[in-house]
Amino acid sequence: MAETYTFDAKDLAEIKKLIEKYPEKQAAVLPVLWYAQDKFGHSDPSVQKLVSETLDVPEAHIRGVVSFYTQYYEKPIGRNVLDVCTCLSCHVSGGYDMLHYLEERLGIKAGETTPDGEFSLQSVECLGACGYAPMLQVTNDKFVNHLTREKIDKLLEDLRAGKEPEFESNPMPQHQKES
Ligand code: FES
Repeated sequence: MAETYTFDAKDLAEIKKLIEKYPEKQAAVLPVLWYAQDKFGHSDPSVQKLVSETLDVPEAHIRGVVSFYTQYYEKPIGRNVLDVCTCLSCHVSGGYDMLHYLEERLGIKAGETTPDGEFSLQSVECLGACGYAPMLQVTNDKFVNHLTREKIDKLLEDLRAGKEPEFESNPMPQHQKES
């Protein structure tokens, strides 16, 4: 049975502040979804329904937003989300080799989560860092550029140990899922 999610009074106060920044409620869908995902860890259909009811925006619209952006997770996901860019510049620079190496290291395919819930792996469209290809993003806002197998090994080691890896800056805040 699908889990039911709710916003408490504090959440609703925060959401009210987000809504007030926009001329209409529909324009607040992205930040309110972001708030919800931060609270619940994903934006699955139950969370989408809650956001829809809270903003009085059709569920189909919320679903469309969640399915468009890689930042929104349509189902429960790992603590670390590795988005490997496989778009043109990264592709020709070895993006798929890096993706396949990660699949081998983690024992999962792109689109899956490790059984311990530590890592989810995704193949995504351009992350706006083409000059640093091949590259990947960790959990929506941290970049690792000019990927090599050694860099991936170090990244996994640091993340597993709960250490903050060395990240580059994120030049582009939102991007589209692969179709
Ligand atoms: Fe990979 Fe643009 S093609 S960041």
